[in-house]
Amino acid sequence: MLSTLCGEEGSTVTGSDDSTLTALVVDEGLSLVVILAHSLFEKQEQTNIPHGSPGWPVFGETLSFLKPHESNTIGSFLEDHCSRYGKVLRSHLFGSPTIISCDHELNAFVLQNEDRLFQCSYPKPIHGILGKLSMLVVVGDAHKRLRSIALGLTNTWKSKTGILHDIDRQVISTVESWKKRERIIFCEEARKFTFNVIVKQILSLKADEPQTAEILEDFLTFMKGLVSLPIYIPGAPYARAVKARARISSTVRAIVEERRKGVDRHEKGDFLDVLMSNGSVSDEEKVSLVLDLLLGGYETTSLLMSFTVYFLGTSPLALQQLKEEHQAIRTKKVKGEYLNLEDYKQMEFTQNVINEALRCGNIVKFVHRKALKDVRFKGFLIPSGWKVLPVFSSVHLDTSLHENASQFCPWRWMGQGTGKKFAPFGGGPRLCPGAELAKVETAFFLHHLVLNFQWSTQGEDHPIAYPYVEFKRGLPLMIQPIKTGFEGSPVGF
Ligand code: HEM
Repeated sequence: MLSTLCGEEGSTVTGSDDSTLTALVVDEGLSLVVILAHSLFEKQEQTNIPHGSPGWPVFGETLSFLKPHESNTIGSFLEDHCSRYGKVLRSHLFGSPTIISCDHELNAFVLQNEDRLFQCSYPKPIHGILGKLSMLVVVGDAHKRLRSIALGLTNTWKSKTGILHDIDRQVISTVESWKKRERIIFCEEARKFTFNVIVKQILSLKADEPQTAEILEDFLTFMKGLVSLPIYIPGAPYARAVKARARISSTVRAIVEERRKGVDRHEKGDFLDVLMSNGSVSDEEKVSLVLDLLLGGYETTSLLMSFTVYFLGTSPLALQQLKEEHQAIRTKKVKGEYLNLEDYKQMEFTQNVINEALRCGNIVKFVHRKALKDVRFKGFLIPSGWKVLPVFSSVHLDTSLHENASQFCPWRWMGQGTGKKFAPFGGGPRLCPGAELAKVETAFFLHHLVLNFQWSTQGEDHPIAYPYVEFKRGLPLMIQPIKTGFEGSPVGF
């Protein structure tokens, strides 16, 4: 059971001088683990491995590293450890000796050298939920192949005006449903919206179809399991998530079968059609790709929308400037006209708001990698086989890289590129393929929100990194339609 929590059972660690230490075989007793962990750390003193501490036997420092904290802070573990050991430190996490990197240059180096010096390496229990063909699990050529197919969907939004119109239509229908309401739980509304957008693009399912509600319900169970204690106890969140994944897979498989038999095959123009017309993709790969895109494209994007609303609440000036930008765009359009790519390009301040919300909110705190060989960087040694965790939030909140880092200040992005000190979507050959789609959905949502509503947060709520980010109360908002609403907006109050 413990080994499930710890990830890689009986893992082997190769030291920099190529001697081999076998550590963490749980059954061999804690005393052996303590001796090995400590002799390993003594040995590291001589080899320039970054400083740090091994923590407790077996668990290492995993529990303190994962301790929840507000996502616009780095949390007490990193605050304490970085001040003691520096921005690159060693620890023992998820069952492996680990280098934690809060250094933007090392983070970029690790991500850029995927498959050469480092490799994606999520803990084994996560594989149990995502499946063995998930893009976050496969490596090397298998990953490159699946990724190029996925990019086929995520890169088409610019060339297909229909996708932008679909997104805009979905925003309008969401905000219209608020007309008679005074209070909404924003995170729920945002989730429904992003889910409806992604199931439409991938499977052509509409919001009111029973299959959409079924998949959404299974997805919520799936997401809860993904961030729960990964121990298989029947009825517990992890086990329920494994089952929910199996149910979503069979729903998608049934849709594939229906299309194969049906007369309307390859005529919907969605991502599944693209997959079905590609003879080299097996049914198992089709299902896995669909799940990856649903998973990647839904919760993260809805969080980004929630962050923009949350942080704009702290900056009336930014909200005012955003409103003016969207009023100017609306003025040039005829009544009821959908937003298009040209409008999106005009949303410059909106882009700054989105970047700043990503920097302050930190949707993905860190990613999992392992070193494929001994690597030296800035005088440090990262031993082969060790886990490496590039932490994005520490870079985003680093006051030596971002002035007044704790302040939400969209103007900081004016006229400058984002560079290495900003990596909300990861980087290198695994850079998020859905980054632009997430931004366009958020920008279109903000357009209709700021033109048609004023809002205030109801009571205290903050984004918490568990490390998976969630607003404890779902971000309740009191909303009020702007009576003198913007004439041209299709929402038309
Ligand atoms: C604000 C929204 C989003 C954020 C913050 C985000 C963040 C990330 C990050 C950090 C990674 C890199 C993981 C790693 O290197 O281990 C990633 C990968 C991925 N994302 Fe996103 N993502 C977002 C939206 C989306 C959307 C809209 C989609 C799909 C439509 C998507 C699909 C994926 C997929 C399939 C991968 C795996 C890529 C690979 O391994 O090559 N994401 N995302």
